[in-house]
Amino acid sequence: MFLDRLFGNKGEGEEKILKCLGADMHSHLIPGVDDGAKDYETAFSCIAEMKRYGINKIYLTPHFQAHRYTNDEEDIKERFEKLKQKVAEQDLGVELALAGEYLIDDGFRKRLEEPNFLTIDGKYLLVEFSFNQSMMGMEELFFDMQMKGYEIILAHPERYIYLSESSSLLNNLKEQGVYFQANILSFAGFYGKEVKQRAYTYIEKGWIDFIGTDIHNEKYRKALVEFFEKSSNFRKILKKNTFLNNQL
Ligand SMILES: [Fe+2]
Repeated sequence: MFLDRLFGNKGEGEEKILKCLGADMHSHLIPGVDDGAKDYETAFSCIAEMKRYGINKIYLTPHFQAHRYTNDEEDIKERFEKLKQKVAEQDLGVELALAGEYLIDDGFRKRLEEPNFLTIDGKYLLVEFSFNQSMMGMEELFFDMQMKGYEIILAHPERYIYLSESSSLLNNLKEQGVYFQANILSFAGFYGKEVKQRAYTYIEKGWIDFIGTDIHNEKYRKALVEFFEKSSNFRKILKKNTFLNNQL
């Protein structure tokens, strides 16, 4: 079995730190579609590792962008089905589901006019901002999405360095009922000190509704394992807070 081959005699995920989440709702493991897993072996090893830590369901959320990752929903659905079949053959014991991570860019309005979104659990739309610059009119855009019936999840708010705890945009979106999702590796310092600090601050403020791995490849897998093996702070966060992952 793939798990045995991969982990040999290693324990069953020690204490399954992610069991309380149940589902990971952010990952990039469909081979060859974006900056995520480059092949099936990578996808299998990341999926098997998350299973070892207690994850039973993984949403694959490839990037949808107007310029860099110009994925097409129908093509992605086909690739997802192939991965799903291969994962079933490997008997990894993880349910896979498909959604997308949509960048709010100059093509997003058009998407909203002709919606073909891949959503989480049929209702949550996972969106991300640019890492470089703020855009105007976000509150109105998010309101329009909500009026169309979408529940919006903003991916990793802690990672937009031009936005902080005092940002009126983040505060307004939160008031507007937008869900926030933090990346596990933000707490590990994987994206830098400032992102780490913000992740803890946003947890303290009660802003974080979902937790995701945002796992892309072996580098992320190894960083997650290293973090799980040593972080008592993250264990405390999972104990103290209830995240909506377990409803997915
Ligand atoms: Fe992502």
